[in-house]
Amino acid sequence: MQILGIDIGGSGIKGAPVDTATGLFLEERHRIPTPQPSVPEEVCNVVAEIARHFSWQGPIGCTFPAIVKNGVVYSAANVDKSWIGTDGQALIQHKTGCSAVLLNDADAAGIAEMEYGAGRGRKGVVIMLTFGTGIGSAIFIDGVLLPNTELGHLEIRGKDAEDRASDRIRQEKDLSWEKWAEKVDEYLQHVEYLFSPDLIIVGGGVSKKHDRFLPLLHTQTPIIPAELLNDAGIVGAALAARWRV
Ligand code: BGC
Repeated sequence: MQILGIDIGGSGIKGAPVDTATGLFLEERHRIPTPQPSVPEEVCNVVAEIARHFSWQGPIGCTFPAIVKNGVVYSAANVDKSWIGTDGQALIQHKTGCSAVLLNDADAAGIAEMEYGAGRGRKGVVIMLTFGTGIGSAIFIDGVLLPNTELGHLEIRGKDAEDRASDRIRQEKDLSWEKWAEKVDEYLQHVEYLFSPDLIIVGGGVSKKHDRFLPLLHTQTPIIPAELLNDAGIVGAALAARWRV
């Protein structure tokens, strides 16, 4: 099946048609900067522009960096607050004229990794964590997703975990890999204590540089880098849309 996967992020919105039988892109991906302020109307106009770029008329799977339930957005940690309560899925359908599915970005990335990446064939409790502007999470139990887990907002010593250990913090504070790894380590040990996972997959842009920080961590759980990197959101969005559009 061919589905247009779109990944809405804080700085860019990118999409590509995906062959869901292989997880591969059918055309080169197209990226447009996220409008600022990132209000629903403007963001969905960009989604429609991406669909037009591919002359798309089929189904669309789209990610969003917040809690999304039945197409409706319930939080807005790193996007404009006016998203809260918006039926983003309906708005995308309205703007594109295509059937669409909207889901959380880390859930989408996790779905892609479980099917075509680092989590292939892995049973038990697998936790995918994406380190970017925020920290996204996706929990799988024998391959089945528990959606919208929001583990980036666990509280660590009185502070949101993503305000301590996201890749944004590493960059903003110009932390060395060692210093940042200490924060990630503290966070992961908390996650490990709460969920006793069998495997942790680390994604997000920074996972490209996994050799700089994964060896510095002390979790007991095996921890491996994501394989699909930047493409995971797009691929996972398309896969999620397979059964639902
Ligand atoms: C949001 C999550 C999202 C994560 C990664 C967090 O701030 O609350 O919904 O998955 O950032 O974008």
